[in-house]
Order: sequence, then C-alpha cells, then structure tokens
Amino acid sequence: MKGENDVVGSTTDRPRQTVVALISFITGAFLMSAFLTVGHRDWPSYLLIRNPNPTVSSAPTTPIQLQAILHYATSKVTPQQSFQEITQSFNVLRNRSPCNFLVFGLGYDSLMWASFNPNGPTLFLEETPEWVTTVLKDAPSLNAKTVPYRTRLKEADRLLASYRGEPDCLPGRAYLKGNRECRLALDNLPEEVYEREWDVIMIDAPRGYFPDAPGRMAAIFSAAVMARARKGVGNTHVFLHDVDRKVEKEFAKEFLCMKFKVGGVGRLWHFEIPPNNSSSTKFC
Ligand SMILES: *[C@@H]1O[C@H](CO)[C@@H](O)[C@H](O)[C@H]1NC(C)=O
Ligand SMILES: *[C@@H]1O[C@H](CO)[C@@H](O)[C@H](O)[C@H]1NC(C)=O
Repeated sequence: MKGENDVVGSTTDRPRQTVVALISFITGAFLMSAFLTVGHRDWPSYLLIRNPNPTVSSAPTTPIQLQAILHYATSKVTPQQSFQEITQSFNVLRNRSPCNFLVFGLGYDSLMWASFNPNGPTLFLEETPEWVTTVLKDAPSLNAKTVPYRTRLKEADRLLASYRGEPDCLPGRAYLKGNRECRLALDNLPEEVYEREWDVIMIDAPRGYFPDAPGRMAAIFSAAVMARARKGVGNTHVFLHDVDRKVEKEFAKEFLCMKFKVGGVGRLWHFEIPPNNSSSTKFC
C-alpha cells in the first residue's frame, strides 16, 4: 500500500476530494445507520442497511470508529484505494462484521479497515518492520505484525510454471505453517494467523512493482489455501487490489479462480471462495 503507485501525502485536488468522500462515507455509514429507519428510499444505497440486524444497527459507535473519523477528518493523507473500490469491501464487511478480517498491507487506510470491523479481530500483515513502527505510532490500537516473504517478483513466472511439481503446493495437500517445500506458502506467519479462520481477506501488499520486491504471489496462494481449508459455515471473501498488473492477474486466475469472482471495480477484484478439501492438481 505504502508508496505503491501514488505519491502519498500529496495535497492535490483528488486526495482532498477523497477526504471529503471518506468522511461522509464513514460518518454516514456508521452514525446515520443508527438513526435511519427502513423506508428512506432516497438515501444513497451505501447508507442503507439492507438487512437490518437490530443488534448491529443499534450498537453504539465504537472508539475505533470515532478515532477513524477524527483521523480522516484531520488528515491530508488518504487511503490509496478509490471510493468505489473501498465500497466493495465495505458492503461485504457490513454484512459479515464482526468477522475475522485479515489485511495484507498496512497503510493510511488501516484505521478505516479496522473501523469497518469494530467488534471483530482485524489483523494487518506488513513486510517492513520500520513501517509497522511508523504507522502504529499514530494508530496504536491497530493489530499489525511483520511477515517475512520468501519470493521475489522476478521469480513469479517460474513459480507459476513449476509449483505443480511440488506436492506440498497442490490443492488438498497444501498447508501453510511450516511448509518449507512450497515456496508459495507463507510458512512463517505469526501464530495468530494460523489459529483463526479468516472470513474476509484483503490483499493489498506486499510490494510488487520492482523485480526484487516480494510480489503478491505468496499472499494470493496462501489466501486460496486458507479459503479452501475453511471449516466454518459460508465462503471466504478475498479482495485483491492492483489487478491491472500482470502478476496479480495471473496468480488470481490460477489460485483464486475466475469462476469464484463475484465482483470487481477499478483495480480491485472480489472473490468468494467455497471450502474444498478435495485433492487435485489444479486449484480452479
Ligand atoms: C472433506 O470435508 C468433508 C466435510 O467436512 C468431509 O466429509 C470429507 O471427508 C473431507 N474429505 C477429505 C478428503 O478430507
Ligand atoms: C474442488 O476443487 C477441484 C479443483 O481443485 C474441483 O475440480 C472440484 O470440482 C471442487 N469441488 C467442489 C465441490 O467444488
């Protein structure tokens, strides 16, 4: 997320408009839902609670939501995803929250993601320890952990062409924790990642825009393995950002499967992946 494509911290017109949009978005969605009654048909659809759940819609605003409003109302640095892209995952989180929400990437949007899931665990995975320290200084309530990656973007083609030769990479057999043999498996994540079953996974990191960057290959593969291994009810929602890039697109097609793509806007694709423990040589 950090410095991925845009110059963050700029104060040009577009970020300012995004600030305004975000403030109305967050305040609107969270505060107004408490006052809205069904029947206000003239409200924009994103402000309407389609499936009003009395326990959720009447829940008091939580500290992290208020903190997010204060933060984005006073910050010139805004999330890198567009309003339309954020709305896609917002709609899913609104229905699933409180849920287990795993986010690859830590950045200016992290407080927003955490505030979209105020009563559930949201965990951020970030490659650079210094960046974790920087972000947590401003938002100490976020749960962010550093993760090591074993891949390089320049190896993407080779990894895609050769993973089927490694039995521990194959669906039905692939696992994550301690899987040294399969280089696409994130084998060394914080314990907490393996202990939970993640309902929503957002992949917006690690960096994948220069040859020696880790690339998103292992994050995409590991999200697919987690989703297929799900034991709980329902499917796993996976959001992948930067699908305008070749590697993101190819790995998504190979592991997240186009038949499971249920939405997409801008540079974001949305997959809903069902559990599947059957052994196969192909993920899709
Ligand atoms: C897959 O999961 C289903 C449902 O939990 C179970 O009945 C089945 O035995 C499992 N199959 C394998 C190959 O583990
Ligand atoms: C499970 O995945 C395999 C491909 O890995 C696919 O052929 C099979 O149809 C899937 N099973 C279900 C129940 O979706």
